[in-house]
Amino acid sequence: MAEVRLQQISKSYGNNQVLQGIDLHVRNGEFMVFVGPSGCGKSTLLRMIAGLEDISAGELHIDNQLANDIPPAKRGLAMVFQSYALYPHMTVYENMAFSLSLTSMNKAEIDTAVQHAASILQMTHLLQRKPRDLSGGQRQRVAIGRAIVRKPGLFLFDEPLSNLDASLRVQMRIELSKLHRELAATMIYVTHDQVEAMTLGQRIAVFNGGKIEQIGAPLELYDKPVNLFVAGFLGSPKMNIVKARVLRNFGNVVELQLAAGTHINVQLDASNLQTGEEVSLGIRAEHILLASQTTEHSNQLEVCISFVEHLGDAAIVYATLAGEENLFAIKLPADTSDLYAGADLCIQLPGHRCHVFDNKGIAVGL
Ligand SMILES: Nc1ncnc2c1ncn2[C@@H]1O[C@H](COP(=O)(O)OP(=O)(O)OP(=O)(O)O)[C@@H](O)[C@H]1O
Ligand SMILES: [Mg+2]
Repeated sequence: MAEVRLQQISKSYGNNQVLQGIDLHVRNGEFMVFVGPSGCGKSTLLRMIAGLEDISAGELHIDNQLANDIPPAKRGLAMVFQSYALYPHMTVYENMAFSLSLTSMNKAEIDTAVQHAASILQMTHLLQRKPRDLSGGQRQRVAIGRAIVRKPGLFLFDEPLSNLDASLRVQMRIELSKLHRELAATMIYVTHDQVEAMTLGQRIAVFNGGKIEQIGAPLELYDKPVNLFVAGFLGSPKMNIVKARVLRNFGNVVELQLAAGTHINVQLDASNLQTGEEVSLGIRAEHILLASQTTEHSNQLEVCISFVEHLGDAAIVYATLAGEENLFAIKLPADTSDLYAGADLCIQLPGHRCHVFDNKGIAVGL
């Protein structure tokens, strides 16, 4: 196991600053996920931890040792990339044994390490095959096996599953979680797939434009996003966001007015909001109720169905809301009747499920 501390880490290529002031503590044995849109600097940061990129400013500590200038091979870590980069002329066994053969380990020790990794990854029967005779998932497992044999305290993964088809990705996700438990190693995993982040990470760091927006457990980020970016990035469909104005502020309840005039009461600590202030109101699709399902008469509004996605276990309704450009997504039980384009729907936004963001996009009342 290993512990990683980043203090005010920055990275520039020439005049182009791609990471700014990154502070992060990855705990011993933790599964930490870096997630964020393309180009936000996830791979660059991972490569800096690996020692494949110089650190422009700040300090990297691995196990309480300043590691900025420690060469990659001496950092006690192993990295797995999206492209498996296996040696095509070598068997699976040879691919896994290769890096060990460069050390002082003898043949018997290498064999024990390879056999152990193969059994963890359930590929003992594949050891004599060449990479070309393997499926994509099997090749990726060899790449992970090559990392395991070195018994690193820290694994770095850069989008290792993105070349695999959807069902294999789900299977490999489960295997990676199992592997993390079995090896009791620290893992840092980069992805731009928010589902992968939510399902794999014990904690997630959400990146945007070279900065970390929020760090926390998956459900903490989902339930309490600190700003509009995190709110919109995690969750599918995206959190609905509409413009609103503060009408009245009762301290622990705030009354908002939407563009079409509807009033919505939200329960939160609103002590920092001013009457008249422009804000954004957010609510997730699964938290919206049909007015017919509730006895509560406040917070109701009329929408018009634009189209419906039937997912089998649920239906996602996309509807227009007077005064709003963006469609509103509403997740309803699959057997909800009368869902068709053009139909009017009366919905209710439960006040304790609403999020409010101030005019800078910062969450109110957290
Ligand atoms: N060697 C380089 N020289 C100059 N700019 C670079 C270099 N490597 C990366 N960049 C820039 O740094 C930024 C961050 O790149 P990075 O590869 O870390 O993004 P990422 O978050 O991993 O994105 P993706 O999800 O697409 O893999 C990008 O704007 C990229 O163009
Ligand atoms: Mg990348």
